[in-house]
Formats: sequence, C-alpha cells, structure tokens
Amino acid sequence: MKKILITGGAGFIGSHVVKLFVNKYVDYHVFNLDKLTYAGNLENLKSIENSPNYTFIKGDITDGLFISQLFENQQFDGVIHLAAESHVDRSIADPMAFIHTNIVGTANLLNAALKIWEGHFEGKLFYHISTDEVYGSLGENDAAFTEQTPYCPHSPYSASKAASDHLVRAYYDTYGLPTVISNCSNNYGPYQFPEKLLPLCINNILNNKPLPVYGKGLNVRDWLYVKDHADAIDCVFHAGEKGQTYNIGGNNEWRNIDLIEKLIEITDNQLNRPKGTSQKLITFVKDRAGHDLRYAINAKKIHTQLGWCPKVAFDEGFALTVKWYLDNSDWLKNVTTGEYQNYYNKMYLERK
Ligand code: NAD
Ligand code: TYD
Repeated sequence: MKKILITGGAGFIGSHVVKLFVNKYVDYHVFNLDKLTYAGNLENLKSIENSPNYTFIKGDITDGLFISQLFENQQFDGVIHLAAESHVDRSIADPMAFIHTNIVGTANLLNAALKIWEGHFEGKLFYHISTDEVYGSLGENDAAFTEQTPYCPHSPYSASKAASDHLVRAYYDTYGLPTVISNCSNNYGPYQFPEKLLPLCINNILNNKPLPVYGKGLNVRDWLYVKDHADAIDCVFHAGEKGQTYNIGGNNEWRNIDLIEKLIEITDNQLNRPKGTSQKLITFVKDRAGHDLRYAINAKKIHTQLGWCPKVAFDEGFALTVKWYLDNSDWLKNVTTGEYQNYYNKMYLERK
C-alpha cells in the first residue's frame, strides 16, 4: 500500500483533495497532516473520517524535528503539500506567520523527504501546490500567465509562496528530489473559509451586512471550481513530469464587482428574496495595499500534455456553491464565531 502524505488537508482545497484520494484510491493510505489553524476544520472531512485508508495527524510543519521524525516513522511514498497561510489580507496584517509556515514549513518537508528518499527516488514524488499570484499582476490587455512568466510577487502571501516554489525547484535541481509544482487561480466552492471574497459575501448577504468591495471593484480574478482543482491535482500527481510546473485555471475571468452582482442575483433568488434586494449592501471600501489588478491563467500545458480541463461550468458551480452555503448554515455559523469576529471587526470596521 502506498503511503501518501497530504498537508493542509483540513483546509478548503486540501479537504477536497483528501476526500478525492481516500475515496478513489483504496490502495493508498492517506495521511492528513494539519495544524488546525483557524482555517482548518475536521468538519470538512466527516464523510471519510472513519475510512480504513485514512489517518489524521495534528501537527505543525514549522516544527522541523517533528516533521523529520514523522517522515522517518512513516516512510511516505508521496507528498502533496497544501498546508499554508493562504489569505492575502492576513499576510498584510501579519507577514511573519506566512514566512514561517509557507517558507520554513515547506523547507522542513523538503528536507525530511530528501532524507528518507535519498538514493532511491524511484516512485517517489513531492508535489507542491502553489498559486498564480507568484506571477504578479497583469494589465487589462496582457496575455495570461504561462509557466514561463517570470515571478513578480507583490504581497507577503505571494512572496512567501514564490519563495517556497523556488525552494522546491532548488531541491530538484540540486539534489534531484522528484518534485512537481502547480500554480492555480482562485478557487471557489464548498468549505471555503468566509474570509475570502465569495463565502464572505454569501455570509454577509445572509446576515444583511455590507459587502465590502475593495477600491472600485475593477480587479480581475480567474475562478475555478474547487473540485476541478482537486481533479487537476490528481492528474498532476499521477502523470506530471518531474521538475515541471503546470498552470491550472478556469479560463473564467471576472471583475470583482460583476462577480458580486452575480452572487447577489443568485443568492437572493435562492433565498426567495425579490430580485436586487441585496444590491444595497454593496459598499465600496478602502483598497487592499498593493492590490494586484488582474490574474489570468494560460492552462494550455496541463490540457495538451496531461489532458486535464475544467468540467464544471461556471453557472453550475456558482449555483451549487451558493446552495451549499445556504444548506450548511451550521457550518458557516460554527466557523464565524470566536476568532472570526475579531478578524472581521479589525479588517472591515477599520476599512470604512
Ligand atoms: P486554507 O487556508 O483553507 O487551508 C490551509 C490549511 O493549512 C488549513 O487546514 C490549516 O490548518 C493548515 N495549516 C496552516 N498552517 C499550518 C502549519 N504550520 N502546519 C500544518 N498545517 C497548517 O487554504 P486553501 O485555500 O485550501 O489553500 C491550500 C493551498 O492551495 C495553499 O498552499 C494555497 O497557497 C494554495 N492555493 C489556494 C488557492 C485558493 O484559491 N484558495 C488558489 C491557488 C493555490
Ligand atoms: P480573495 O478572495 O481574498 O482572493 P485573492 O486576494 O487571493 O485573489 O479576493 C478576491 C478578490 O476580491 C481580490 O481582488 C480582493 C477582492 N476582495 C474584496 O473586494 N472584498 C473582500 O472582502 C475580499 C475578501 C476580497
């Protein structure tokens, strides 16, 4: 039985990847290593928590000794590394947490993998999950990011992810550690923590609270349904070429303001509220510092070389996502108590 370590498996994307692998690959044993920060939630994994091919390990990737002992004891065959501090606004408020987890944490995992695999790399893989934000910002008419686009990160979050990508490449180039990286655009879907744009706005529509639009709402993001990203990760893990990078995206660019208007339309409709009810909640607030104007992904390489492309049409994924949050108001309530209230007050009341 192959032993696969997935880090950050209690978070948004990680929980979808863990569930996919546990259900699809009964000949793998999936170990989910997660610190359970504010963003990690074992509720996300209820459907597989008792599966015989699944084990949860609570732990911190910044603890080098713990990580090296874990690798020595378990002798993993593969690593899919998603654990990270992931929210740009938090990285602006507290960059050190990002530097520790995203850079030092990744280095600890690379060192531990190298130590147990050195001399017999065959059949082993260290897969690092990264973001399109490492490429920086595009102008309105610029061509989309390719795998050749030079790195130009602007936020502490994207700079820390860029640093970790560079470390992964350095371990491939220097030691021959079998690695692969993918850089994906903005994900949306069930179980996303409501600090990110879409779940935050759904929660606020439900509670008749302001929808904070940064600046003029003209920034553009490419959106991909999270299960499509999990499928892409499955594809890269099994077919990706060592030492390569794959861009993953939805070919689905939206200006923030247009996306919020669409969200209002769908959410009001699903709540049986008259059309346009929540329009009045749109509130333009102070812009994010260093706010990247536009991200767009050219995903030709993963499509032509590995055969992956998104399956879920945006209208379908978007409606499913809104429905999931409305049907799972207990989940939303549970994650928005306590620490979340302090965060929300700090971020938004001070922005007005
Ligand atoms: P998330 O914030 O929802 O989840 C991160 C998980 O990592 C949480 O479960 C958290 O508890 C865990 N974690 C954080 N610090 C840890 C530590 N020190 N040790 C162990 N576990 C720790 O993030 P997400 O949105 O699911 O993103 C997952 C990965 O995908 C990240 O690496 C992120 O950079 C990348 N990514 C995210 C997006 C997106 O749109 N969300 C897009 C592209 C790439
Ligand atoms: P976010 O979900 O934080 O993802 P990222 O910054 O990684 O792209 O933000 C998506 C876009 O929405 C980004 O341009 C910032 C903007 N935004 C708002 O306008 N209001 C908000 O409350 C949030 C959280 C984000």
